[in-house]
Amino acid sequence: GIGPEVVGAAVRVLESTGLSFRWENETAGAGALATEGTALPERVLTSVRKNKLALKGPTGTPVGSGHRSINVDLRKRLDLYANLRPVKTLPGVKSRYDNVDLIVVRENTEDLYSGLEHVVVPGVVESIKIITEKASTRIARFAFEYARTHGRKRISSVHKANIMKLSDGLFLDCCRAVAKGYPEISYDEIIVDNACMQLVLDPTRFDMLLLENLYGDIVSDLCAGFIGGLGMAPGANIGEDSAIFEAVHGSAPDIAGKNLANPMALILSGAMMLDHLGEHAAAGRVRAAVHAVLREGAKLTRDLGGTAGTIEIAEAIALKVAGA
Ligand code: NAI
Repeated sequence: GIGPEVVGAAVRVLESTGLSFRWENETAGAGALATEGTALPERVLTSVRKNKLALKGPTGTPVGSGHRSINVDLRKRLDLYANLRPVKTLPGVKSRYDNVDLIVVRENTEDLYSGLEHVVVPGVVESIKIITEKASTRIARFAFEYARTHGRKRISSVHKANIMKLSDGLFLDCCRAVAKGYPEISYDEIIVDNACMQLVLDPTRFDMLLLENLYGDIVSDLCAGFIGGLGMAPGANIGEDSAIFEAVHGSAPDIAGKNLANPMALILSGAMMLDHLGEHAAAGRVRAAVHAVLREGAKLTRDLGGTAGTIEIAEAIALKVAGA
């Protein structure tokens, strides 16, 4: 997919900050499967465990059969329990909405992503949804701590506890218990179908969304649509020990290898990585450079209505970062 192209672009921009990076390049996904017989070789995990940090391109997962998602495997095996996805209106990007400023916090390790599926009898399949008190409390605490440290005012838990009374009910119980420890942050709950409708009507009504894995996955892509699409939406997978920074988007096989992919989502994920490292000034310069390129509007990829390629965009942003 577009992984190698957007990672190359993001590395180019991060290096233009003048910070000194020593990269370990690890191939995973389709490339590794072809040459090593596994999409997630042990060396990839070893590298992330050792460095405690990774910038990751998207990797494809076959539909209906084939190998398991290496994204799910990475998140579970490294216990990257929090998926943090800021959704903020960007200058110069056409959208139906102005001033969107949402934080999506998605639980990253359980739910229907446990991969526990089996055929009960031919024609009947069971998929098991796992929700635990431990993981739900942990993600709720992450969200409230984030709100406290980043001056956020309100968290909305998104659920379907009217139907999944036990599993989503447990998730809500945990969120409510954690919320009690943060009286300065208002807390409310909304059923996922209504949440989607309210978001599409007016995303500025929300501040932070707290979701289980599957709802978080779907709502993240929905929210990317508020700020210009998947090419603009950054993210991070955060655990106690390590963190992996990656865009919300997938491997986009339809545009892979054509220099058409918008690298901004991964470049902005790189800025989140710099913030995570305490390099706030460099992170700010990267964001300012992305904003400047967007404002000028002369170099944009096809998804934003332009004709520039991935490499050209990275070059334009890198030059601004270096000159800033
Ligand atoms: P996708 O996000 O790859 O693509 C959806 C649409 O958005 C496509 O039309 C694509 O061309 C466009 N798009 C995505 N990123 C773009 C970018 N940076 N610039 C311009 N256009 C972009 O989702 P899709 O097609 O559902 O999934 C493709 C593969 O990606 C699947 O195998 C899926 O499992 C995998 N995937 C991987 C993720 C990851 O590695 N974190 C996340 C989501 C999906």
